[in-house]
Amino acid sequence: MAKVSVSRLAKMKQEQEKITCITAYDASFAAIFDQAGIQVLLVGDSLGMVLQGHDSTLPVTVEHIAYHTAAVASTAEKSLIIADLPFMSYATPEQAYSNAATLMRAGANMVKLEGGDWLNESVIGLVQRGIPVCGHLGLTPQSVNVFGGYKVQGRAEEHANKLVEDALALQEAGIQLLVLECVPVALAERVTKALHIPVIGIGAGTETDGQILVMHDAFGISAGFCPKFSKNFLVETGDIRRAVELYKEQVESKIFPGAEHSFY
Ligand code: KIV
Ligand code: NA
Repeated sequence: MAKVSVSRLAKMKQEQEKITCITAYDASFAAIFDQAGIQVLLVGDSLGMVLQGHDSTLPVTVEHIAYHTAAVASTAEKSLIIADLPFMSYATPEQAYSNAATLMRAGANMVKLEGGDWLNESVIGLVQRGIPVCGHLGLTPQSVNVFGGYKVQGRAEEHANKLVEDALALQEAGIQLLVLECVPVALAERVTKALHIPVIGIGAGTETDGQILVMHDAFGISAGFCPKFSKNFLVETGDIRRAVELYKEQVESKIFPGAEHSFY
């Protein structure tokens, strides 16, 4: 099978085929995920927490993401690779362009940035310059200090309405994929129906077009704790390859995420 493209992901949404995504930071895991048919690998700035041991994603730099993107790209043949633009690396459109270029040269196929309609100019400019963009709304961990902790977002009606407006504005600006993190199931469903681009959820219930997990959470190896919205797929399988296949099967059959992994 050929490399997964943004148009393939758009077609999967149209045909109501679930998209399975996971984070990856190195060549060995990327090869396993690629062979299991995972459509999207995210080189997430979560690496600041699960690899580097920080208590937030803020210390992560463009160089860190580029290093791990090159490792993932060395073995990922079919999976689309998204690289996170880390904290303050896209504070201006010019910074977004040059830092996104570094990540694309390292092997990314798309970049992801966190935030709402203030990013419109950067998104338009990136797409015009040939760089596909994934948005990220809801609990955006780079803003943890503004939120005052890792909390479910979009529960108040005005916040939910603002999130839907941001999602539509980003789609208009040209994002081709949207990650929605830690929002109530009903809001995730509303956003998924409002957009023609695929919406990938984490802690956003089963009605999104796909799911993403941090790989350490999916294998129960995160230092500290496993978030409510995640599941340890190694328990039932005892094998990394089988665990990834089970995750994909349960996303496709809408068994995962269950109500116990969702917010209302
Ligand atoms: O950095 C990351 O792993 C992410 C996912 C949680 C979506 O942004
Ligand atoms: Na991230």
